[in-house]
Amino acid sequence: MILVERRYMGLDGWVLGIESTAHTFSFGLVDSNGLPRPSVSDTLRPDSGGIHPREAADHHVELGAKLLKDLLDRENLVPNDIAAIAYSQGPGMGPCLRTGAAAARALSTYLSVPLIGVNHCVAHIEIGREQCGCDDPILLYVSGGNTQVIARLDGKYRVLGETLDIGIGNMLDKFARAHGIPFPGGPEVEKMAQKWLDSNPNSSLKELELPYAVHGMDLAFSGLLSAANRLVKDGSPFEAVCWSLQEHAFAACIEVAERALAHTRKDQILLGGGVACNQRLRTMSEIMCRERGASSYCPPKMYCIDNGTMIARLGWLELINGRVTSLEHSAVDQELRTDHTAIIW
Ligand code: ATP
Ligand code: FE2
Repeated sequence: MILVERRYMGLDGWVLGIESTAHTFSFGLVDSNGLPRPSVSDTLRPDSGGIHPREAADHHVELGAKLLKDLLDRENLVPNDIAAIAYSQGPGMGPCLRTGAAAARALSTYLSVPLIGVNHCVAHIEIGREQCGCDDPILLYVSGGNTQVIARLDGKYRVLGETLDIGIGNMLDKFARAHGIPFPGGPEVEKMAQKWLDSNPNSSLKELELPYAVHGMDLAFSGLLSAANRLVKDGSPFEAVCWSLQEHAFAACIEVAERALAHTRKDQILLGGGVACNQRLRTMSEIMCRERGASSYCPPKMYCIDNGTMIARLGWLELINGRVTSLEHSAVDQELRTDHTAIIW
């Protein structure tokens, strides 16, 4: 107990972060000053079909010990160098979340160090703020399962707009899968779209008609998905549909983000989540920001996709502000919302 207190107050060690909300199992670290080290991760990529939560959880159980060992070896650390364990408490798929939480509880108990359950969505924001040095941004959080426009207000990250149906990454993955491209489809759709642009520099003329995804401050992508599938079925070139799908989906997100800037009078956009790896989305955000005198930020790709380091970073922030999670409050919450977590820093 004394050891826990000493480490907790002085943090003379590393914070380990465990990410397991969906298909990726990842371990990452921040040092006692909160500075990040790259994660060691593995992602389940099913040969066909979508992700089955149980299969993803089995993947995590199988690989967990090896991933953690690889991380500690790479950093020349031993388990006793770890001063606290952070894990994704939600939102996500139940079996996957429970696997990470079980590992976190076991490690925290074994090492007698504090346990910190963190909000996965908030972790995307905080690693972005740390990496980009931006202070009070509008976050455009675009991942497989989530699409949200978020701003900090009165001690919470508030969701100003979000998808009413599926996440944008999910939509890109489903579109790709329907045309024989395995998960994750987003990067392949990006390549195809780029091909179309390279062979048709005057791209604005080549954009195919698709439905409008903006609904007030919210978004919806399933209509876009069906329409894009129909275009391919009706014989439009696949690359042209990829390009048009990206243009429509990303423009919708950027439009809502721009409106959020206007409403809140903030002047920074921060991109986060796996879809923020997309260069076209990054460029669109930069153009929009330039036009209204704002700045667009995006962390390195390894910190856009799900990663243990962002969990460690948020765990560190919570810990130095005095918040830890007792075992009895360590259950996962599949439905945890971005605005459920109080921001005390
Ligand atoms: P969350 O739990 O936050 O919803 P997630 O489980 O979807 O996250 P992430 O790693 O944040 O995981 O995002 C994965 C998504 O990002 C996939 O849908 C993938 O297709 C998409 N993605 C990755 N790279 C690109 C890219 N270059 N262009 C478009 N989409 C991309
Ligand atoms: Fe994520």
